[in-house]
Amino acid sequence: MATNRGEFSSRFGFVMAAAGSAVGLGNVWGFPTQAADNGGAAFLFVYLLLALTLAYPTLMAELIIGRHAHANAVSALRLISPGRGTARFGTVTGIYGFIVASLILAFYAIVAGWIIAFFLASACQLLGLDGLADWLTRFGMGRNLLFMALFMLLTIGIISEGVQRGIERWSSRLMPLLLATLLCLVLYVMTLEGAMDGLKVYLLPDFGAALKPGLIIAALGSAFFSLSLGVGTMLIYGSYLTDRENLPVVGSLVTLVDILIAVLAGFLVLPAMYVALHNGVQIFTDSGELISGDSLLFTVLPELFSTMGIAGVIVSMVFFFLMSIAALTSSISMLEVPVAYTIEEHNVGRKKAVFVIGGLIAAASAVILLNFETLFGLTVSFTTRYSQPLLGFVFCLYAGWLWHRDKLLQELRKGNPEVAQGLFWKVWPWHVKFVCPLIILAIFGQALLG
Ligand code: TRP
Repeated sequence: MATNRGEFSSRFGFVMAAAGSAVGLGNVWGFPTQAADNGGAAFLFVYLLLALTLAYPTLMAELIIGRHAHANAVSALRLISPGRGTARFGTVTGIYGFIVASLILAFYAIVAGWIIAFFLASACQLLGLDGLADWLTRFGMGRNLLFMALFMLLTIGIISEGVQRGIERWSSRLMPLLLATLLCLVLYVMTLEGAMDGLKVYLLPDFGAALKPGLIIAALGSAFFSLSLGVGTMLIYGSYLTDRENLPVVGSLVTLVDILIAVLAGFLVLPAMYVALHNGVQIFTDSGELISGDSLLFTVLPELFSTMGIAGVIVSMVFFFLMSIAALTSSISMLEVPVAYTIEEHNVGRKKAVFVIGGLIAAASAVILLNFETLFGLTVSFTTRYSQPLLGFVFCLYAGWLWHRDKLLQELRKGNPEVAQGLFWKVWPWHVKFVCPLIILAIFGQALLG
């Protein structure tokens, strides 16, 4: 195996990188609106429960397998397979994972491109370049292609620098910036008229809404997407960890940062929506539900900002800047999956692998953009709804059933000699063997039926 494959230099660097992967559009945008739709604090409660009981154990499965193999998902699953058949199945799983990761990046880059365009539009408005600002916020094909390509170039630039100088350095810079920006925005929005109404919707549980069918499944899906599980992202980040690191501890830190930022984003987006309502912006659909999805991000919030005069332009700029950072620290973790595979399995240099694969993914993105109506939704549901839970299921099977229990314990002992006496070892192996696969099967069944 490659000895020169790169390694995170510190616990802080790893946690920033893995939390950077986890914290993305799913947290800042997906979580708050789902909470609003599904009974506020009641949804929060369900989400927290699922993040801790399902997402954290699955994250641990990926981290432990990755750190043990110090390799990409294909070699890692082959390595822990007890026989030939399971090894072959591991290869197929790893390859399927890297294709899914690439496709997730293909649609993510499109949305991230829109976000960067909105960020620049606010900057243009500030400079009085209204014509340009207008072009930037209209969804023309030229603009869409240009900004998708720009976002891919940023992602390619960071990944081509490797683990420490690329992923770790940029995540350690961008994540604290993201947290600080988010806090400033939350504090500012709280001072505005109408914010308290939003806060009430977010924090007062409405258990009637929380018991809606489909809520638990929705919360599960978003917890899974939010922690970047299933496609081998966390496995590959785990593979860059040193053997001295205590895995259950770093895994919990990553989960906690991810939850913290999702919860914080709720303190921003829900109050902001009710400030918008107060300012006369429509925030409910005709059927009485809160507007969510892309119209929230690209219509409701911009309308809110435009009711706030010059302060609104600045807030808008800061807001879309925040979203751009969140997207970038996630996209690099997606690109690293196929890149690591190609470097290690096919002996290609990093720069070449990054440019070729990044170029192919950008081309796939362009194809999706050119056939947006048919391909966009299809790509999203194929990857996040079906493939991610299915792949997560397979990772749990490897960690829970196929990998030898003693070897697993040996791996955990490396950074944590007393692990066998602790709670983690008492609960997790059993949990990942039975509970996680069963819950994931339930999500998958639901996704297939619904
Ligand atoms: N977790 C990120 C978010 O919340 C998205 C993400 C990054 C992701 N890497 C991933 C999703 C790998 C699935 C698979 O936006």
